Amino acid sequence: MNSWDDVDAYIGGLFVGADEALEAALQSSDEAGLPAIAVSAPLGKFLMLLARSLGARTILEIGTLGGYSTIWLARGLPADGRLVSLELEQHHADVARANLQRAGVSDRVEIVVGPALETLHRVEGPFDLIFIDADKDNYPGYFEHSLRLSRPGTVIVADNVVRDGEVINEANADPRIRGVRRFNEMVAAERRVSATAIQTVGTKGYDGFALILVS
Ligand code: SAH
Ligand code: DHB
Ligand code: MG
Repeated sequence: MNSWDDVDAYIGGLFVGADEALEAALQSSDEAGLPAIAVSAPLGKFLMLLARSLGARTILEIGTLGGYSTIWLARGLPADGRLVSLELEQHHADVARANLQRAGVSDRVEIVVGPALETLHRVEGPFDLIFIDADKDNYPGYFEHSLRLSRPGTVIVADNVVRDGEVINEANADPRIRGVRRFNEMVAAERRVSATAIQTVGTKGYDGFALILVS
């Protein structure tokens, strides 16, 4: 039996391959002291394929980090598409801007620095695709803003909704776990959307993402 890591490397080797801009983005993020919590290569490519499948022209990302997922999402846009990515930390945004430049997608991407619950009020929608991947405690608020910035047909993807299975541990008082639990409950109760969640294993451990279609 191969490990999750090895199989992720196998999938990445087959379906992603060597990619200078993406590898440089991870390396420069590491050198700049950013945490290694970007999406995996297979999930990054999934986001790009989703954007292309939807014919997305406008994408909102909440949580930029070093811009790894941002590069994938931007590659799913047409040349005149627009991606807005929200990031709390100026240092992360600086690293991301250099990585986006190197990847040749900076013309399509605007990074807005500040707490997303505040900067979301200045963002103009609607967006075709929204990727929620910032602080987990605030996922409920991010879902409300995402609905406001959606139109019928918008797809919302939320990363990290399983968290090693802790999401079903009602005794877990970690605000990040509680935030994700509350988020999942809000999504399930929301009549304007149809949604599911998919568990994932791989280089990022055991987690999962939600896929939400706005009607
Ligand atoms: N999407 C990235 C990973 C994001 S990690 C990728 O896959 O490559 C989560 C990011 O959210 C971190 O950079 C963190 O600084 C940022 N973040 C945390 N709290 C935030 C907030 N309140 N508003 C905006 N961004 C926040
Ligand atoms: C963390 C955040 C993420 O977005 C992720 O994919 C994994 C871990 C974290 O804050 O620990
Ligand atoms: Mg994440």
